[in-house]
Amino acid sequence: MASTAPYPLLHSHLLIKRLISLNKPSSLRPARHYIFLEGSKVECRHDSDRELPFEQERNFSWLSGGVAPPHSALTISYEHEGGEAINEDAIETRLWLPEVDEAEVMWMGMPPTPSEIGQKIHVTAIHQGWSRHSLYPPPPKNRNLETIIHHLPFTKPPTSIAAQINAPIPTSEYLLKALHEARRNKTKVEIEKMKKANELSSGAHKYLMELVGKGAIKDENAAEAEFVAYCRRRGSKIQAYSSIVAAGKSAGTLHYVANDQPFPTEPTLLLVDAGCEWQDYASDITRVIPIGNGGKFTKECAEIVTLVCEMQDAAFKLIKPNANWEDVQLLMHDVLIRGFLKLGLFVVPEGSEDEKVEKIKASGLSSAFYPHAVGHLLGLDTHDVGGLPEGRSTDPLLRYLRLRVPLEEGFVVTVEPGCYFNEFLFAPFKNSEFVNHELLAKYLYVGGVRIEDNLLITKDGFENLTPSWLPRTVEEVEAVTCPTGSA
Ligand code: GLY
Ligand code: MN
Ligand code: MN
Repeated sequence: MASTAPYPLLHSHLLIKRLISLNKPSSLRPARHYIFLEGSKVECRHDSDRELPFEQERNFSWLSGGVAPPHSALTISYEHEGGEAINEDAIETRLWLPEVDEAEVMWMGMPPTPSEIGQKIHVTAIHQGWSRHSLYPPPPKNRNLETIIHHLPFTKPPTSIAAQINAPIPTSEYLLKALHEARRNKTKVEIEKMKKANELSSGAHKYLMELVGKGAIKDENAAEAEFVAYCRRRGSKIQAYSSIVAAGKSAGTLHYVANDQPFPTEPTLLLVDAGCEWQDYASDITRVIPIGNGGKFTKECAEIVTLVCEMQDAAFKLIKPNANWEDVQLLMHDVLIRGFLKLGLFVVPEGSEDEKVEKIKASGLSSAFYPHAVGHLLGLDTHDVGGLPEGRSTDPLLRYLRLRVPLEEGFVVTVEPGCYFNEFLFAPFKNSEFVNHELLAKYLYVGGVRIEDNLLITKDGFENLTPSWLPRTVEEVEAVTCPTGSA
C-alpha cells in the first residue's frame, strides 16, 4: 500500500525504499541504515563579508520540507529487519537546527524555533544544537545489527571521538543515487507547489504580453524587471534560473541572459524563457511575443511560431507512462524537417517526403535549427536530478537529452521544442545542398522561437501544469498583444 505519511516524512520513506532496493541482495540484509545530511550554510563572496543569497541544498530541502534555517542537519535512522518489506513506523527522521548564536541574532533576528518549524512540516522530531560528534549514530536498539552511515559524496560523515565496538560503515555509494531515483516521482505536496509556481509564472508571462502589446515596454531590461516584479509581488522571491529575455537575433542564443538591449527598430519577436520558484520548486516556461509590428507577428515569425507549436503538439501525442524520451526528441526533428520542407527552406530534389526527411535527418542539418533537447525533468532544480543514471548519449541528435529513462507517473517534465536562426550554429551547413539559402536569409531576423510548458505525467497520459489560459499560438498571443485585431 502506498504510504500516506505527511510531508515531508513521506520522502524519508520513499528514500529508504529506494535505498533498500538499490543493491540487492546485499541491501536486503538486516542492518541499521543511518542517513546524515548537512544543510547549506550562508556563504560569502570571496574576500568579502558580502553574503550570497541562501539556497538550501536540494536533497536536504526534499527531506526537510525546505523550511530549516542555514546550517541545519538531518538524520534518518531505520533498523531494517531484512527482506523487501519496509516497516515505515520504524523510520525516524530528525531535523537538527543550529544552536542560537547571539551575535547572529543581533544582525539577523531570532531564527525560527523548533516548535515554529514543527507547525510547518512533519518529521519525527526537531532538535536544537548539533555537532558532527553529537550526530554519530548511537548503538542500534537491536544490538546485533550493523550500522551503515549513508552520506552524500560531498559531505563528511559524522565522526566519533571514541571508537565503538559495533563500528558503523560510512558510505556515499548509494545515498545520492537513491535520492535521484526517489526525487523523480513527485509527491502530492510537491505537485501543488509546482502548480503554484506555474500559475504565478504564467500570470507574469501574460502580463508581459499585455505590456509589450500596449507598447509600454521598449527594452529587455524593462521586460525582465516586469516579469520578476510580478512574481515578487505575489510572494515568489526567487526565479528558478536566470531569465532569458531576448529580442530579435539574441533569441537565437539558447541561454542568452544579458537581457540589456533595446528592442530592435524592425519588427521581430521577444523570446521570454522565465519561471519563478514556489517554496523551492521550479517552473520553466517559454513564450514569444511580437514586437515592432503593432502586436502582430510578421509572416516569417508567425510561420515559425506555428511550426514550433506543431512540434509541441506532436510531442504531447507521445507523452504518457513508458514513453521513451529519445523517441519524442527524434519526432521533434521529424516535424521540424517536414515543416521546413513545406516552407521551402529545405529542398531535396528527389524522393518521397519520408525519404527526404530521412536524408536530411541523416545529414544532421536539422540540429543547426533545433540543437537542444525536447525537455528535462523539473522539480526542486530546473534541470532536475535523476534523468541520466547511465549518462548522456553520444548520438548527435540525442546528446543534449537530460532524460534517458522511460517516463513514469509522477515525473514532471518540460516540453520545449524550438527553432533558431543562429549563424554560428548554421556555419557547418553553409554550403548544404538541402537548404534554400536565399529564402533562409529572409528568416534570420526571427532569431529564435521556443515554446515551453511543464507537464505532470499521469496514469494515462499527462496533465499540463502550465495553465491553458496562457497564450501560446499565434492567434492566442495576438489576441492579447493586438486585441483590436488590426495592427
Ligand atoms: N530555462 C532553461 C531551460 O529551458 O532549460
Ligand atoms: Mn527548460
Ligand atoms: Mn526554459
